[in-house]
Amino acid sequence: MERRPFIAGNWKMNKTVGEALDLVRSLKATLQGVEDVEVAVAPPFTALYPVAQELKGSSIFLAGQNLFWEEKGAFTGEISPVMLKEVGCQYVIIGHSERRQYFGETDESVNRRVHAALHYGLKVIFCIGETLQEREGGVTFSVVERQLEKGLAGLDAPKVETMIVVAYEPVWAIGTGKTATPEQAEEVHQFIRRKLEKLYSKGVANSLRIQYGGSVTPENIYGLMAQPDIDGALVGGASLKVESFSRIVRFREI
Ligand code: 13P
Repeated sequence: MERRPFIAGNWKMNKTVGEALDLVRSLKATLQGVEDVEVAVAPPFTALYPVAQELKGSSIFLAGQNLFWEEKGAFTGEISPVMLKEVGCQYVIIGHSERRQYFGETDESVNRRVHAALHYGLKVIFCIGETLQEREGGVTFSVVERQLEKGLAGLDAPKVETMIVVAYEPVWAIGTGKTATPEQAEEVHQFIRRKLEKLYSKGVANSLRIQYGGSVTPENIYGLMAQPDIDGALVGGASLKVESFSRIVRFREI
């Protein structure tokens, strides 16, 4: 089954409004006419609204980098799914390893966020991945399996099929310049797809897209995308410059 490649740029805590607008204007121009690849950008919260205005009429999607599960209320510092929808997000990244590592997110809190996102019609880029210690300890598959089971708990198959993108991001490859080899990544992607088949169905497993994330560059994207179970990338550092991000999106033309 043909899965449309999906390349998303996670800008993390980078870009003022002015810088974000510069980047997105250049991206719009450079990526015009790209139809065979789905593209999204995830600016910081402060830049979402202006970027959404700039993206009107383009095919680039907008993603939040996180959300809190309540609709509104006394939750200082948090952003609700309703707010993300209102400013024009179609996607939200949930469970990024930086959220899990530095901000105390757990499989359970990630699951609550996933449910809230779907309830309000936001598609989810759901992040999972093992740490270096876990890889070296030989528990990569069981970690990824637990994150999948707990993070997606309580969702039905149609929701998972239409609203979820899984991003496999080995923590040891994030921001380190140490990309997983295409074979290392494929091994885990294949495992994730088999697990999705067991949890839901063959149909869900075949149509759901699984992105790879962790030091993706214009130089390594082609080899990664050549793997049968790698359907796209969640790009950090290389998404901050128009040149590198657009080359990643145009991986087929390299
Ligand atoms: P880098 O591409 O900078 O390694 O970041 C990956 C990532 O965390 C994307 O969400």
